[in-house]
Amino acid sequence: MRDIKQIKNLKGKTVLLRVDFNVPVKNGRVQDDFRIRAALPTINFILKGGAKIILLTHLGKDGKASLSPIIKRFFAVSKISKNKITFFENLRKFPGEIKNDQSFAKKLSSMGDVYVNDAFSVSHREHASIVSVPKYLPSFAGFQLTREVENLSQVFEKPKHPFLFILGGAKFSTKMPLIKKYLKLADSVFVGGALADDFLKAQGYDVGKSLVDNTNYGIAEILKSKKLILPIDFVIKNKAIIDIGEETIKNLIPIIKKAKLILWNGPLGKYEDGGAVATKKILKLVAESKAESIIGGGDTVNLISKMKMENKFSFVSTGGGATLDFLVKGTLPGIKALG
Ligand code: 3PG
Repeated sequence: MRDIKQIKNLKGKTVLLRVDFNVPVKNGRVQDDFRIRAALPTINFILKGGAKIILLTHLGKDGKASLSPIIKRFFAVSKISKNKITFFENLRKFPGEIKNDQSFAKKLSSMGDVYVNDAFSVSHREHASIVSVPKYLPSFAGFQLTREVENLSQVFEKPKHPFLFILGGAKFSTKMPLIKKYLKLADSVFVGGALADDFLKAQGYDVGKSLVDNTNYGIAEILKSKKLILPIDFVIKNKAIIDIGEETIKNLIPIIKKAKLILWNGPLGKYEDGGAVATKKILKLVAESKAESIIGGGDTVNLISKMKMENKFSFVSTGGGATLDFLVKGTLPGIKALG
């Protein structure tokens, strides 16, 4: 990937900058602006070089959402004057974006001289603004995209040991390849969150109304691994597991203390339902440890933002699904498109 420092002369150019400002919005207010702040170094670098910027982003799944709350928050946090940046409309308003329609990609391309991708968190999507615009314009990676690739790559390229992988959240079937891969690369893999429910069920425990994926394939094989660590006690609410318990946290303490690298993706409880206690406690333990710590996943990162702990970890990824895909495949369609 060529990064933006390799753009020969920015002066007078129009840069089409793909960012991912798909952030949580409630009652017209941005709830977490981590992704917006993460794009600022790239934006400031381009402006300093004397170029104009057209920002491209999507918001929400279907393109119906208005970008107004995003635009408002962007100008408030960046302190950039309004005449220097133009926001294009919510990209997903145009069916050509998701369909990766070439005439839509060409239309987008015709608005600028140079394309920059600083949207790691949507680079797992083969959408027009991610994989096709770079075919029509000189293309470069923004600073955040480069940082994501550099930081996340080290966990599968040259991980330090002992290496602890903590995985939470739901969707067992999507996370299965990740568990398999990191049982090979890491020294211990702790599985919490709704993912652990599937393991418990496979072991014959009654999980009541807890969230399970029920796909179950390959689970018996994974259960044989000595590297796998599962929760041993739980917090229950309305017959469902909502969090892991104190004993489980205690068991993790020495492993966290010894670790030289900790990779974490996904919350360990049903955090929106009172199940964020263990995740918060363990986040603090990881932050205090000497290990290099790499954290990803939308929900975990929102929690970190709320706890104002972003700077306590070696690297916090802006990606959710993109981080998971990158950790499994080592690249993403949007990264390949810049190559
Ligand atoms: C995200 O929030 O993970 C990205 O913006 C991608 O969004 P999507 O899952 O709607 O494609």
